[in-house]
This record gives sequence, structure tokens and C-alpha cells, in this order.
Amino acid sequence: VYPQFVQIVEVGPRDGLQNEPIKVPTNIKIELINRLVAAGLRTVEATSFVSPKWVPQLADGTEVLKGIDRKPGVNYPVLVPNLKGLDAAIAAGAEEIAVFGAASESFSQKNINCSIEESLVRFSDVVREAVNRGLRVRGYVSCVLGCPYEGKISPHKVAKVASAMVDMGCYEISLGDTIGVGTPGEMDLMLSEVSRLVPVNHLAVHCHNTYGQALANILMALQHGVSVVDSSVAGLGGCPYAKGASGNVSTEDVVYMLHGMGIETGVDLEKLIDAGNFISSFLNRPTSSKCRSKNGED
Ligand code: HMG
Ligand code: MG
Repeated sequence: VYPQFVQIVEVGPRDGLQNEPIKVPTNIKIELINRLVAAGLRTVEATSFVSPKWVPQLADGTEVLKGIDRKPGVNYPVLVPNLKGLDAAIAAGAEEIAVFGAASESFSQKNINCSIEESLVRFSDVVREAVNRGLRVRGYVSCVLGCPYEGKISPHKVAKVASAMVDMGCYEISLGDTIGVGTPGEMDLMLSEVSRLVPVNHLAVHCHNTYGQALANILMALQHGVSVVDSSVAGLGGCPYAKGASGNVSTEDVVYMLHGMGIETGVDLEKLIDAGNFISSFLNRPTSSKCRSKNGED
């Protein structure tokens, strides 16, 4: 039995743009976010409050968050790695943050410059402080179906990190196939293991589409009862600290699949495609989405 409604977490403005080599002007980022919200998305990850040396593209997080046309009922979460990022996010008006850890030791080192253990200690301070100050906190676990440095990752390790993040106060855990190498059988095993420690209504999936497996993996997650799916408009994206990571699954393709299955998302596909065309034409390249029109024309 599939969920009747799937909540899409649009990550294009953050995960999508963080790896773009050419600086995207702040006003383009703001317009992209506003267009995504106008298309009906209710959660749009807006930016990151990380070190600008590590991710120069998102150094304008404060301006982006202050510049968007905030709509009631819409969440604009931002990535935060430490207390310094939390302070900056709160000062810019963030109401929801996401901390981001990994199930792979080497990826943790490359991405946030510390071990998994150290990251969990750091995150528990951040989450405690954020919750005390009235924010909601989401948690990411990266490399859940494979790591660019270590290869296969044990589902048990994923479950341990996910459950530690729930215990510290994350309301939801987004399970990231950071480099898009997983297949549905592996997704199945991983979710079976993780859902022993974290109830499935606290889980989301975050699939990159490097090997073209994302929709199949999402379908498997829906069969497990997962009803929150991360995706990126126009399939933008990739993590700068994950060699070979390509874009996230495109939001257009996910919405097309879900609507075709009779599952609601609240998203207007035509407006979403327009938002994808807007950012793709700015970046001067074709969209990575396969769904380019609502009815299969052009
Ligand atoms: P570090 O070098 O160990 O940190 O980096 P540090 O505390 O020693 O600070 C170094 C410098 O950064 C200092 O500046 C700090 O002030 C500054 P300096 O004194 O040299 O001038 N700094 C900051 N500046 C602004 N905001 C901050 C901040 N923190 C420190 N918050 C750190 C550690 C975590 C900061 C760094 O590794 C970092 O920023 N990493 C972020 C990497 C990143 O954003 N990766 C992409 C997101 S993860 C992802 O894409 C995966 C995901 O999509 C899920 C999936 O696909 O699986 C979420
Ligand atoms: Mg990602």
C-alpha cells in the first residue's frame, strides 16, 4: 500500500547549486526559491550556513534567506554544521535547520573534517541549542548505500547513526544515497535495518541519480511506507566532497511518477517545469529532468 500523499523536500537551491562552479547571483537563487514555492512545494531547502571556504557558492546564505518572499506554511530549512552556523542561520531568520552526518568514516572526514563520533557530539550540541531556541531540526545521513571512498556501507552502521540523530532530537532523518550507486535490493535491506531503530514515519529518502536508479529506489522506499522524498528541480546537484556525485533525482520526474500513481504532492507540475527551465536557462544547459512537459509533448 502506497502513501496517499508524499511530501517533497525540494533541495535544488542548496544541494543543486552548492556544486555549481560559476557563481549564481543571489537574486537568481531568490527567484528560484520563490518560483518553487509558487509551484506548490511546501519545503524548500534554501541554502547552507557552512564555511564559505568549503562551499563558496552558498556564501550568500544570509542574503538569500532574508531576500525570499516568505510564505506562511512553507518551510525553508538550511544546512548547519556547527554552532557558528546555527547562530548565523538564526540571525538570518531560519526556523528549521538540518545537521548532516554520514555512515562512512572517510566521507565524514572529507565533508565535515571530523570523525562520525566527533560529528555526533558536535551535532548534539547544535540540536540541543536549536531546539531550545525553537527551531526544528532535520538530520541527514550520507552514504547510506555506498561511499565514494569506502564502497559498500553496512546497513547496521546507517541504522546506528540515524538512531543517534533521532535520540538527540532530529524530527526526521533523510537517508542519502550521496553518490547514487544503490539499487532497489540494497534500498530494501537498508530500510529494513534502519526501520528497526527508527520508525518509518521519521524517515525520508534522498537519492542522487548517478546510475539512473533513483526512481526505482524511491519506489522501493514508498513500499516501505516512507512518505517524504528529497529531490532537486531540473535534477541539479552533487556534493563537492563526494567524487563523481551527480545531481539529485529531479523533482519533475518524482512528481510525474507520484501523480501517475495517484499519489498527491500538492505540486503543480507545469509551474515546476517552468521553475526548472528558469534555472537551467540561467545555467545555460538543458535540464537533467526527463519529464519536460506535463503530457509528453515537445
Ligand atoms: P573546519 O575547517 O574543520 O572548521 O571545517 P573550523 O571550525 O576549524 O573553521 C575553519 C574556518 O571556517 C574558520 O575560519 C571558521 O570561522 C570558519 P577562519 O578562522 O579560517 O577564517 N567556519 C565557518 N564559517 C561560516 N559558517 C560556519 C563555519 N564554521 C567554521 N558554519 C566545517 C569544518 C564543518 C565548518 C567545514 O568542513 C564545512 O563547512 N563543511 C561543509 C561541507 C558541505 O557543506 N558539504 C555539502 C553538504 S553535505 C551534502 O551535500 C550531502 C547531503 O546532500 C546528503 C546526501 O546527499 O547524502 C546533505
Ligand atoms: Mg545530497
